[in-house]
Amino acid sequence: MLTCVALLGFFLNTVLAYDYIGCFFRPGVLNGQEGVQQGIFSVSCPDYCATQGTIYTYEYDRWSGDVGIDQWCLCTDSPPDFQYIEDGWYNCEPSNSFQPGNVSVSAHLVPFTFTYCCESPGTNELGTRVSTVFQCFAECSSYQYASLVYKAGETQGYCSCFDLDDRWANQPRTTCHLGDWNIFQRAVQPSGFAKRQPRDRGGLDIKDRKDQVFCPLGMTACNLEEAEGYECLDTELDPESCGGCMHGQYGVVDSLEGTDCTALTGTTLYSVTCSSGRCVMTGCGDDYDLIDQSCMEAGK
Ligand SMILES: *[C@@H]1O[C@H](CO)[C@@H](O)[C@H](O)[C@H]1NC(C)=O
Repeated sequence: MLTCVALLGFFLNTVLAYDYIGCFFRPGVLNGQEGVQQGIFSVSCPDYCATQGTIYTYEYDRWSGDVGIDQWCLCTDSPPDFQYIEDGWYNCEPSNSFQPGNVSVSAHLVPFTFTYCCESPGTNELGTRVSTVFQCFAECSSYQYASLVYKAGETQGYCSCFDLDDRWANQPRTTCHLGDWNIFQRAVQPSGFAKRQPRDRGGLDIKDRKDQVFCPLGMTACNLEEAEGYECLDTELDPESCGGCMHGQYGVVDSLEGTDCTALTGTTLYSVTCSSGRCVMTGCGDDYDLIDQSCMEAGK
């Protein structure tokens, strides 16, 4: 199963996880449509749908024996009907029965990004009914946080807006069950995002064979530097953990080591990004010149 996780990481890690919306029941959420089969070594569905110019990316996968995962992408402007949301993101793991799995839906989320799910703090406010995440974002346009809660069989979710995270900050993180709070945060610097609270295992409610799925599709479970546990990072995009984890991948023995692009000589936090797991310099700090993607001391 560890190899499966490594494979999953390998094949699916190009999904822009900050753009994650949820895992939905197939075929219901497809509403009669089918995706395009992309094959095993293909571009990521979000990249493919970006070329199609659609709002939403629907992705579902199927094991193709032990050689990898076949990927289907449906690019569409139709929002997923919330009545089909799954009780837990691990329901979007590719099945090993050669049946296509459930559908992971993403979209370029602005101005908020998905951060995590947590147990409901148990307050009774239900929020405004919305049919899409973007309706919730519009509702919360003058706030820092948006929370979306889905209930079984309901086509509308419940959206609430907050300026502070104190309501749920100490709630256990979850794998996004029905009734949990899906927290979206106004887009922040990737480096700030990477430093968010670690997910400690204690808060996760993952059962039996699902116990190797630690993060939503597209994110990698990375060991913490000085503590037990891990945090979910998008190593394709995270400038401080670019191309892999800095302290090893959680539960994987020989994982790909990442690069902290921001620590490279002469770079500054704002002059480097991570794209497709590689550091990309857009400039250098004072006294350095950018030459061939490296920062060289000026005058040398
Ligand atoms: C899809 O979701 C259903 C529950 O709605 C679950 O029983 C099934 O195992 C899921 N499929 C996969 C491949 O995880």
